Amino acid sequence: MSYIVQQEIKGNQYYYLVKNIRQENGWLKAKKYLGKNIPEKSRLQSFEKDLDNVLKAKISGKQPIKQPKYESIQFLKSLEISRIDHTRENGTPKFTPENDIDFLINFTFNSNAIEGSTNSLRDTKIMLKDEKVPNGKKLRDIYEAVNTEDAYKFVKCYENDISKKFILRLHEILMHRLLPEPGAFRKKPVKITGTDFMPPQPEDLDVEVDRFITFYRFIRKKYHPIEVAALVHIKFVQLHPFSDGNGRTARLLMNFVLMKNNFVPIVITRKNRKQYYELLEKTHGGKEYLPFVKFVYDCVESEYEL
Ligand SMILES: Nc1ncnc2c1ncn2[C@@H]1O[C@H](COP(=O)(O)OP(=O)(O)OP(=O)(O)O)[C@@H](O)[C@H]1O
Ligand SMILES: [Mg+2]
Repeated sequence: MSYIVQQEIKGNQYYYLVKNIRQENGWLKAKKYLGKNIPEKSRLQSFEKDLDNVLKAKISGKQPIKQPKYESIQFLKSLEISRIDHTRENGTPKFTPENDIDFLINFTFNSNAIEGSTNSLRDTKIMLKDEKVPNGKKLRDIYEAVNTEDAYKFVKCYENDISKKFILRLHEILMHRLLPEPGAFRKKPVKITGTDFMPPQPEDLDVEVDRFITFYRFIRKKYHPIEVAALVHIKFVQLHPFSDGNGRTARLLMNFVLMKNNFVPIVITRKNRKQYYELLEKTHGGKEYLPFVKFVYDCVESEYEL
């Protein structure tokens, strides 16, 4: 049997899940940190499985195998993987380093338009390519465009891997002068428009972001980069660690994973917004990840001319 214990540290309550099993020579115990709130039943059940694995490993004298913190997913077929790898090696990217600015304009326009920015594709081109200010544009519109450019360049040149510091810096660049505290996790609960899914409470974010990074380090060794890129996006928007700019940060993190693995970055278009949101919604209750993975796959494929 497992049970929850509560511990008070400096006036704060912390919860742990504990499981004991009896052995000939005494009790074996495993303990898992739950956070400042007791998670819902399904997550408790998954934590209980983690404890079972730890106990089994203790009994057998082996190190526990680190399980991903999230459920395993049915991913791309091997044929799809060979096809996209062949495209990566032999396909001609639509956007090459010479016309990267055209990719950037397209990406910036769409990523901001998904969030309701009033900048048109033409406005974005005027700002990013001609370095001029389109008539009647507000300061906010200009920051939205130039910050996305800066953030894209930051991600493109970043040589290390995903870390908390990287995520915070990325958000800071992206939301410069658009939020009171860019580069800081939210201090309030957040609701994602159009879904009942509730992201973690603010006090749990620090631990949850650490878990997200551990999860990323696990999957990047195990799964194809397109699967990793899609999962990074999925898990990041589920955390929604910022008060605003989560979607835009997620799309850049996803492109970071793709570029790091020699794929071209992708554009999720404003036209595809409805489908994009619906596929993200499927990833909650039923944990249907594959449709979103396939969506990212198709976006990657469409960035090449064969
Ligand atoms: N059902 C959903 N579940 C999880 N994430 C979703 C869902 N629908 C949309 N999203 C993601 O959330 C983002 C927008 O949500 P919202 O406007 O609440 O966040 P935000 O913090 O304003 O981020 P941003 O403005 O950069 O997108 C979308 O761009 C998408 O990536
Ligand atoms: Mg927003």
